[in-house]
Amino acid sequence: MGDGVTWSTEMDFRHLDDDWRFSLIGLDHASDTPWSAEQWSQALADQRVWVWGGIDSRDATLVSLAVLARLPFDAELQRLEVRPDWRRLGIARRMLNELCHEASKWGSERLLLEVRAGNEAALALYRQMGFVEDGRRRHYYPPARNATDGIREREDAVLMSRHP
Ligand SMILES: CC(C)(COP(=O)(O)OP(=O)(O)OC[C@H]1O[C@@H](n2cnc3c(N)ncnc32)[C@H](O)[C@@H]1OP(=O)(O)O)[C@@H](O)C(=O)NCCC(=O)NCCS
Repeated sequence: MGDGVTWSTEMDFRHLDDDWRFSLIGLDHASDTPWSAEQWSQALADQRVWVWGGIDSRDATLVSLAVLARLPFDAELQRLEVRPDWRRLGIARRMLNELCHEASKWGSERLLLEVRAGNEAALALYRQMGFVEDGRRRHYYPPARNATDGIREREDAVLMSRHP
């Protein structure tokens, strides 16, 4: 980030349309289970899906992304990512607050998500933001491709929710 500025003055959060597809694919590509180009196209074309991101207004690059799907009664957080050089600055926390606000406007009863059992950063974030664990899907995820400990086993999915 640099320049001694705080991100809040340099970040522009906005709804993202298909013009942002390649930027979304690029940022998402580094995640453990990236979506295919086809999945991104479908999400961007779906009226029930809100694709939202943070843009560095100095160079118009995508710094963070979130995908929130409107279900009949609930909302589901399908993606949340912050570019590595912008992490631990409160961006995900800020985005989750906005996502809750959006789900509340939709009248959603709960905001649902699922996360790898080994994703300590995300689990800490969600717990801090008031999400509670509802259950687990055993061995749901394929081994994390970024695993650094040499252990490549399937991982449980932790199912979490909170009221928006
Ligand atoms: C998880 C992720 C979205 C967090 O984004 P972020 O902008 O760095 O998070 P924030 O700065 O808003 O952190 C908020 C809180 O989350 C927790 N947290 C975030 N990153 C953490 C880490 N690496 N280790 C431990 N706690 C962490 C902390 O409680 C933090 O509060 P604090 O900084 O006051 O201690 C980011 O690490 C990321 O993009 N990871 C890869 C993609 C991913 O795992 N997405 C979630 C899929 S379910």
